[in-house]
Amino acid sequence: MDKIRIQGDHALRLKGEVRIGGAKNAVLPAIAASLLTSEEVRLGNVPRVKDVFTFLDLVREMGAVGDLAANTLSLRVRDLSSDEAAYALVRAMRASILVLGPLLARHGKAVVALPGGCAIGSRPIDLHINGLQRLGATISLEHGYIRASADRLRGAEIAFEKKTVTGTENLVMAATLAEGKTVLSNCAVEPEVSDLCVLLVKMGARIEGIGEEMIRISGVAELGGAFHDIIPDRIEAGTFLAAGGMTRGDLVLTGVRPDHMTTVIERLRFSGIAIDPAGSDGLHIVAGPVIRPQDITTSPYPGFPTDMQAQFMAMMTQAEGTSIITETIFDRRFGHVNELLRLGANIEVAGDKAVVRGKTLLSGAETIATDLRASACLVLAGLVASGETVINEAEHLDRGYERIEDKLKALGARIERISDRK
Ligand code: EPZ
Repeated sequence: MDKIRIQGDHALRLKGEVRIGGAKNAVLPAIAASLLTSEEVRLGNVPRVKDVFTFLDLVREMGAVGDLAANTLSLRVRDLSSDEAAYALVRAMRASILVLGPLLARHGKAVVALPGGCAIGSRPIDLHINGLQRLGATISLEHGYIRASADRLRGAEIAFEKKTVTGTENLVMAATLAEGKTVLSNCAVEPEVSDLCVLLVKMGARIEGIGEEMIRISGVAELGGAFHDIIPDRIEAGTFLAAGGMTRGDLVLTGVRPDHMTTVIERLRFSGIAIDPAGSDGLHIVAGPVIRPQDITTSPYPGFPTDMQAQFMAMMTQAEGTSIITETIFDRRFGHVNELLRLGANIEVAGDKAVVRGKTLLSGAETIATDLRASACLVLAGLVASGETVINEAEHLDRGYERIEDKLKALGARIERISDRK
């Protein structure tokens, strides 16, 4: 297992320019969408992160041919050779559930391992299952697997009980080849959902209401190939903004979509950080000497993203005062707190709230990453902790960040990867 070692410094100031990559959570559904057609799908701005390679392994097992050259992915699924997503892969990446809708729509059958829970909480998929049953699928859950079949999916009206990102994505993909009209209401409106819809329309799908809570899909007989550039990763961008904020940094981020980050930008500005547009796709951040505490509550887009909660908590340990962080999306997404406490943070958790008392001068320690965003949080904390911080199980970080240590090193951080791969 790789480790990340950081020589932190209270006085560190990150400076320079960093390019933000494509959105992991947009490219995963886009890869799933390639199962809907026998023609080539080409994706640009694809981040070389672990989850992308895992998803590629999954669709290759189903008959996809293609590869990722630099940051361009070309995929073609002429014929499906398998309709099964085995437990080993699904356990490694919950987003594997995204093959369920496309397999049912194109092939009429799917066998997908139940994802189960993960480090950030219970991860039910009842909304995916109920929605697909409304489209006419027969679904049974046995021996830890979802067994789904449908001669041909039929359009229906479906209202999501609660907003689900991959649930919305699964149902939109399934509905593109269903017979007749489907109306989905209370959809998730994350930019990644919209980006998938834009790709599907390029493939020939008929979708109205992209970016809205009500999406209307008129089924078509088949979909074709397309080329599509993946949107920038708003969470990677937010992570670097937090890194700049914590280190009184002066950074330029390029390749970003500020309009996808309004709430995060607003909260960072309230913390005392100047953030201004830079060029056509950039942000310039200049952080002041003091970070003002902020109370945040995570919520579905356009609210404060749960995927930024851990990173923001790291920054609030450096704020002059008390911040209350409320996590409303996942029931166990405070795994990073115990590790921050070991670095000297002052945080108390009660239910869905974490009370962060700053400013605490952190001191480096050996830590362990529990999940993707928790590991990003520990990297940020390690930057400003005095002495050495080692983050074990850095593979979690690699799931969603491409070479984060190289990007931070180029901005002045003293950070390196210790690989135990022979
Ligand atoms: C997506 O997960 C993201 N993953 C997550 O990012 C992100 O944290 C999450 O959305 C919320 O924004 C991908 O897009 C691949 P949900 P997803 O379904 O779709 C409940 C990261 O770090 N729910 O929107 O699995 C669920 O328990 C990852 O990149 C049901 O009850 O999340 C949660 O409380 C972590 N039944 C809430 O809805 C269901 O059938 C939102 O979950 C589905 C979800």
